[in-house]
Amino acid sequence: MTSRERFLAALACQPLDRPPVWLMRQAGRYLPEYRAMKEKHSFVEMVRTPELATEVTLQPLRRFPLDAAIIFSDILVIPEALGQPYRFKETGGIEMEYALRSSEQISRLRSKGVHQRLDYVAQALARTRSELGNATALLGFCGTPWTLGSYMTQGGSPTESPAILELFQKDRPLFNQLMGILTSACIDYLKMQIDAGADAVQLFDSWASLSPDKDYGEASLRWVQEIIEALPSSFPVILFAKGKAHQRKALVQTGARVISYDWSVNLAQERKLVPASIAVQGNLDPEVLTMDQETTQMRTLELLESMRGHAGYIFNLGHGLTPKAKVENVQTLVETVCNFK
Ligand code: CP3
Repeated sequence: MTSRERFLAALACQPLDRPPVWLMRQAGRYLPEYRAMKEKHSFVEMVRTPELATEVTLQPLRRFPLDAAIIFSDILVIPEALGQPYRFKETGGIEMEYALRSSEQISRLRSKGVHQRLDYVAQALARTRSELGNATALLGFCGTPWTLGSYMTQGGSPTESPAILELFQKDRPLFNQLMGILTSACIDYLKMQIDAGADAVQLFDSWASLSPDKDYGEASLRWVQEIIEALPSSFPVILFAKGKAHQRKALVQTGARVISYDWSVNLAQERKLVPASIAVQGNLDPEVLTMDQETTQMRTLELLESMRGHAGYIFNLGHGLTPKAKVENVQTLVETVCNFK
């Protein structure tokens, strides 16, 4: 069975001898070969250049027998394509060129032609697919409208009193206008990724927890559902709603095929609470990879054991790899999953 077949079987909740494994987001920077590329190119330049984006995507695959690759890009390419550029600060964190606040600024967003301006991502996907071959799954992704809007209205990483929440609470028509623009852009962009060869796409609602529980449906999930409904029917969508695991019913109602969990939940318990036709993904604490190899192996085995016998499971971290993750720990993690019987 190829890695891709294993991944697709997990998506379809078929029983497997071991779960597929891939590593989420920002998987580049703990690798010396990624840091070497960054000596020569800025982050945004690598994202925008298909040859470079392909190379960064393949770097972890050259070292570890991962079952899926996630395309190297960023969720912030959508704001950029709409006319609000971003920058990755070397001191950490994200900076947008300005904070999007007024209705004039929102009306000025270039909502037509998003996928044309993001054609470099389609090229990177097609190139990655041809280098990767058909034996490994390839994932696309995008941010949810709520999470993208959080960065855009803040002008950078959201703070404790997030601008997006203020907009949601004080000017609902304008909030809805912004979400509508972002929803269309996400649909446009994801369809392009699917056409370019993605096997599945992950939606990152990384800032889900900025929304009060009672509002989460209106603030975020309603737009997520609209996106999923607009994609080819039964195309697999993985939904990562950080901090909202307890809203499992609402998450499932969006039409997502897989729910991806952060490390704060007991995954085996969660598996029993979501319908058997929905796969789950997660959720090793990324901090484990900054510790030692024995701990990495032990914690990986604990999670695997707890999920033994559950079909529809994809092994993953509960969030992205941190820059402090040790390469040998990543090696141990992937080997432990691959050798699990
Ligand atoms: O594994 C991969 O490399 C896949 C590509 C990928 C990146 N970002 C590359 C990246 C993916 C899937 C993302 C998603 C992303 N980007 C999210 C959603 C996931 C999550 O974190 O919840 C978010 C919120 C972003 C926005 C963003 N971009 C953040 C918060 C950061 C880190 C800022 C910091 O201070 O750490 C980035 C930068 C970024 N995106 C890097 C990479 C490889 C690091 C750049 C570098 O250090 O060179």
